[in-house]
Amino acid sequence: MSDPTNEPIAEEVLQRAAECIQAGQLVAFPTETVYGLGADATNADAIAAIYAAKDRPSFNPLIIHVASLEAAEQLVVFDDHARTLTATCWPGALTLVLPRREDCAVSLLAAAGLETLAIRVPAHALAQRFLEKAGVPIAAPSANRSGTVSSTKADHVRASLGGAVNMVLDDGPCQIGLESTIIDLAGDAPTLLRAGGVTIELLERQIGEIKTATDDDTAPKAPGMLSRHYATAIPLRMDALELREGEALLAFGGRTLGPAPAICNLSRGGDVKEAATNLFDMMRQLDKPEFTGIAVMEIPETGLGRAINDRLRRASK
Ligand code: TXA
Ligand code: MG
Repeated sequence: MSDPTNEPIAEEVLQRAAECIQAGQLVAFPTETVYGLGADATNADAIAAIYAAKDRPSFNPLIIHVASLEAAEQLVVFDDHARTLTATCWPGALTLVLPRREDCAVSLLAAAGLETLAIRVPAHALAQRFLEKAGVPIAAPSANRSGTVSSTKADHVRASLGGAVNMVLDDGPCQIGLESTIIDLAGDAPTLLRAGGVTIELLERQIGEIKTATDDDTAPKAPGMLSRHYATAIPLRMDALELREGEALLAFGGRTLGPAPAICNLSRGGDVKEAATNLFDMMRQLDKPEFTGIAVMEIPETGLGRAINDRLRRASK
């Protein structure tokens, strides 16, 4: 596997990836959150290929990735809240849902026919270079089959999507390891659609209260909100206080719950940020048919802990 510190991805490789995108093909690429499965957002056929590769229900709209604020302004209408949040959080793990501009070049299929677009500028250096070289907005859901755990390493992408991807840009593990936070600014009041890499506390300090969309909203706007999502194949149980027969343990902090057939520790030091980075990789490591389930120890509901617990809750349904 390539090591980003020693071996920056060669210009020719990026050039090839950009050409794949321009030819309507699928390129998986790293971002600071998770790996994305990218395609030219202006090309409806390429978007359809994403849905097919992911086996994704077609009503689920995709996030559009661009290299800069200026590029975003060509696609969506910014308001004051959007300006405030992007000034501090872009590039970064924040996705905003904003009204499409009338002349927006993004295919309607990418947003599943909605009048809005979810958009972000990733901070990852390679993602930035890739977006600039491709020269088009790139629609990219997380690079995993729909309803399964997101990919935080290039190997996860290959294992999950295999031959459905034309090219995988491997730049090592993702730094945050959890998807972006999604805030809907297109409705009456700013609303959290998905907790993620940027904490809600940080955003509320800038624009005041952010409503939380609930699971029982009749039409979930973000499939991240569909109740069973990010699922493991074997049962997952949260806030475990003891181990049951045959369970693997996903631990957090300095304690353990006793001998288990397999143990992964999200963070021995009890750091939720480190836990977020490890989450999907460790869920995959423990998701094996030889275990009866995965017992997860309690994770505090603070900072990124909230997003981690949200993912675990969906996986546990
Ligand atoms: O960190 C991330 O956000 C990663 C990386 C690759 O950028 N992407 C990601 O994409 O997690 P995906 O497709 O797995 O999740 C996108 C979420 C979905 O829950 C989708 O419903 C929501 O964004 N979404 C997209 N467009 C939307 C829109 N117009 N209105 C409301 N929600 C939208
Ligand atoms: Mg996803």
